[in-house]
Amino acid sequence: MNVVVFGATGDTGRWIVGRAVQAGHEVTAFVRDPRRMRVGLDRVKVVPGDVLDAATVDDAVAGQNTVLSALGSTARNPAPVLSTGVRHILDAMERHHVRRIVALSAAGALGESAGFLFGNIGLRIFRMWLPAVYREHREMLEELKRRNLEWTAVRAVLLTNGPPKGRYRVAVDGIPRWGIRISRADVAEFMVRQLTSDEFVCKMPAIAY
Ligand SMILES: NC(=O)c1ccc[n+]([C@@H]2O[C@H](COP(=O)([O-])OP(=O)(O)OC[C@H]3O[C@@H](n4cnc5c(N)ncnc54)[C@H](OP(=O)(O)O)[C@@H]3O)[C@@H](O)[C@H]2O)c1
Repeated sequence: MNVVVFGATGDTGRWIVGRAVQAGHEVTAFVRDPRRMRVGLDRVKVVPGDVLDAATVDDAVAGQNTVLSALGSTARNPAPVLSTGVRHILDAMERHHVRRIVALSAAGALGESAGFLFGNIGLRIFRMWLPAVYREHREMLEELKRRNLEWTAVRAVLLTNGPPKGRYRVAVDGIPRWGIRISRADVAEFMVRQLTSDEFVCKMPAIAY
């Protein structure tokens, strides 16, 4: 399958690229700066671009079968990467008849409950600490819902750089109870697996240990 990965130079994106290659996909990495592609994978085609530039996104999406996104904006980089950037991706998908997208988002972005008191306090603190980041995620999720595409938004809890465990819990409604952390490696495995599964199409599964 031809897969384009947005956010391929990010901490999660790198794992996604590796997993997608391992799964046998033809991977295109969409990156702002090719020098930041640390994974030296022969089978990865690196395409420079910026998601805020619709034309570069359009070129990267043309000819793909599926899209993976681990894009992120930070408090230091408050650009509308998820709202405007993902809108550009979805527009390009519609133009080029690409149906499937799996995008990384954040648990708590829709104000959903963690199901236990300390979890809810934690989510509230994060939302107060990073209001722009959560607003971006919320806008991306709302935009996905508006599109007639086969989307999956993966709502991750706190991301760690730990090794893959291969075992985690997934909840379509709410967040797995007591689930606080999940490694980027396991998120990547879950996201790449969704490319060949329709279990979570038009759903927003939350993932946690
Ligand atoms: N941290 C957590 O605990 C947590 C929990 C749940 C969900 N999340 C969400 O998970 C997502 C991924 O997190 P992460 O830690 O892997 O993020 P990250 O390391 O900051 O990676 C973000 C990626 O987005 C790319 N990007 C940013 N602006 C771009 C633009 N204008 N055009 C093209 N690419 C652009 C970055 O490229 P450059 O390399 O060029 O900067 C990078 O590849 C984020 O949306 C984050 O909010 C995080």
